[in-house]
Amino acid sequence: RVVILDFGSQYTQLIARRVREAGVFSEIYPCTIAPEELKALDPKAVILSGGPASVLDADSPGLERSLLDLGVPVLGICYGMQLLSHSLGGKVTRAKDREYGRADLELIAPSVLLDGLRSSHSHKVWMSHGDHVETAPEGFTVIARTPSVPIAAMACDEKRIYALQFHPEVAHTDDGEIILHNFLFKIANVKPGWTMASFVESTVADLREKIGDARVICGLSGGIDSTVVALLLHKAIGKQLTCIFVDNGLLRMNEREEVIGYLERHFDLNLVTVDAAERFLSLLAGVEDPEKKRKTIGYTFIEVFDEEAAKITDVKYLAQGTLYPDVIESVSFKGGPSAVIKSHHNVGGLPEKMNLSLVEPLRELFKDEVRKVAMELGLPDYIIWRHPFPGPGLAIRVIGEITTERLEILRQADRIVQQELLATDWYRKVWQGFAVLLPLKTVGVMGDDRTYEHVIALRIVDSIDAMTADWTRLPTEILARISNRIINEVKGVNRVVLDISSKPPSTIEWE
Ligand code: XMP
Repeated sequence: RVVILDFGSQYTQLIARRVREAGVFSEIYPCTIAPEELKALDPKAVILSGGPASVLDADSPGLERSLLDLGVPVLGICYGMQLLSHSLGGKVTRAKDREYGRADLELIAPSVLLDGLRSSHSHKVWMSHGDHVETAPEGFTVIARTPSVPIAAMACDEKRIYALQFHPEVAHTDDGEIILHNFLFKIANVKPGWTMASFVESTVADLREKIGDARVICGLSGGIDSTVVALLLHKAIGKQLTCIFVDNGLLRMNEREEVIGYLERHFDLNLVTVDAAERFLSLLAGVEDPEKKRKTIGYTFIEVFDEEAAKITDVKYLAQGTLYPDVIESVSFKGGPSAVIKSHHNVGGLPEKMNLSLVEPLRELFKDEVRKVAMELGLPDYIIWRHPFPGPGLAIRVIGEITTERLEILRQADRIVQQELLATDWYRKVWQGFAVLLPLKTVGVMGDDRTYEHVIALRIVDSIDAMTADWTRLPTEILARISNRIINEVKGVNRVVLDISSKPPSTIEWE
């Protein structure tokens, strides 16, 4: 395995991801890991991540010298480079300004690390740093520079210690993949062979060991994340797992049948389905304020889930489909290595209330990696490629008051959007595509009669991670088909409009 020591960089998970993509098993540990523990892991190579601190500050995280005695190759990135330099007798200088963004890298000495880069000068690399190394430690060769950083990469082949001021793990760095591959395969001589099948196997083994004979509960939402979590746990501990699915009456058409029905037919899960539609809808009656809707739904979900969970005795763990983007901070330096986590907003508050420990087997993965795990588990395409759906469900897409009739209008319109996207490969290309029911009526004409009916807005967006998004330039024929079908087939709608706003400043959902 390759060990990544986390010094708090926003890119640490990206390093791990790149190593996984190279077919090599990697694990992230806090930079404060005890030397004996690190040694016991028997790493084949160690990567030191970047981080927000400055080695020139007294309380900055340091480097255990014993790490360098392990005799394994070490690659320091950004802060990792400064730390190596600082600890080995080089000189680090504090910059007046942070350098952030693209820089031109020029190779100035041959090195295995930068072997095979497509050109020897003017490589675009991504910088994000304050300090930089001014004098390399003894025994190191400076192998690359940029106009503003005289030592952008350095190497000590004898000790197999390498360091980069820029970030090879980000997509903006040209040939970053070649650099990481050089480190892994030419310097550390690790053998690729790790796959998503290995991820499933090792995760299942870890879960089995961690959980022992305890009982676990898991909330199934119908989305891919919780479905994958449930199946990994099912593989690991079988019937010690109970899944709870709460039907809040705010689901899309056929949603319950499509996802939960599939699981029921194919897996022998302990699955509890709670029909709580009436309870949710009566609490939402007359509520128009978006935040009040969200709070009512969140609070009611916890109540319902808690009541069901209380019927199962001896539960010790709650399993959740937290993904890496949900984990907002990795290491907090002042407070030590403890991870600061944003609990999944749909079940936030549950673990404390129920005194449960969390199990989060997808914590280190990105969404597209979860999809690969789902493929490995043999899930069908319609579950793997399902668009994200918010916890509060259709409640935040029925703008204004939520009634059974208005929910039904939205469900029918939304079904048409889904069908028309699925009929082409656009369903997979877009991040999310859905209908929104607006709180107004407009005048139309149907046959010879005046109509005064509802308006549906279409929200179809491209995104990588939902943090930013742009409206999809969908072919007009598809838009025309969606619009025609909604107006003709959904009773009570006489107008369809298209949302052409990006996020930011808008958001993907309307509420
Ligand atoms: P916004 O509207 O903030 O949405 O641009 C970003 C992404 O998050 C989804 N979303 C939610 N997901 N619970 C969830 O599980 C929620 O309360 C929630 N609100 C928004 C939204 O669908 C989009 O993918």
